[in-house]
Amino acid sequence: MKIAIDGTAASGKGTLSSLLSETLKIPRLDTGLIYRKVAFLYVKSSEVMPKKNIINNSILRSILENLDLQDLDEEILKGELYGNVASIVGKINFVRNKLKTLQIEFIKNMIKQSGGCILDGRDIGTNILPNADFKFYIDAPIEIRAKRRFKQLYINDKSIELKNIKLDLEKRDYNDKSRKNSPLIRSKDSIVINTEFLNPNQVLDKALHFIKKNKEI
Ligand code: DC
Repeated sequence: MKIAIDGTAASGKGTLSSLLSETLKIPRLDTGLIYRKVAFLYVKSSEVMPKKNIINNSILRSILENLDLQDLDEEILKGELYGNVASIVGKINFVRNKLKTLQIEFIKNMIKQSGGCILDGRDIGTNILPNADFKFYIDAPIEIRAKRRFKQLYINDKSIELKNIKLDLEKRDYNDKSRKNSPLIRSKDSIVINTEFLNPNQVLDKALHFIKKNKEI
């Protein structure tokens, strides 16, 4: 079984993906972490904060040459800086092409090994797994998403401000939805889940209900 999950930043798509993976015993890939790893390595090696659209392509190409899906350390990569830079480098065609190749390899391996996989990101249902058995599109109002992200990040960084988190998320949504190459758009055949009034288990129940209704598992 192949499941595609897309959605806006901090909408709860990663949480759903990981709960579905545990429940259905299917491996999962958080594709945002791969973009974030590229961003992390870029920031580390260029030692400057990339300005909007000013990126050193040769540094980026050498990062991609040696990139693999190992060491996707959430603790490090989940910071807002890497999310923002990931959204900038995610606009570049050669980055998306290379990451698509890695994702397709992962999918093939997981189908062989485990009979399926779950991927979550921005272009999964439209570009990476267009033939997924199930597609979900996760969203919630910006205020709710900003508060959730603030709560997560505040644990490790008491200096962050809610209004800046909200601005970051808005900017990131805009980048992700407006880029030319595989933008974040809802695949027509996806099920939309608004997570505003739902806790993670309720979101999981909704997704499972839909899966069970449509397929024997
Ligand atoms: O899901 P996330 O917030 O960890 O993703 C960080 C950024 O990575 C996101 O703003 C855009 C980019 N990304 C992408 O372009 N395509 C994906 N499939 C996943 C992430």
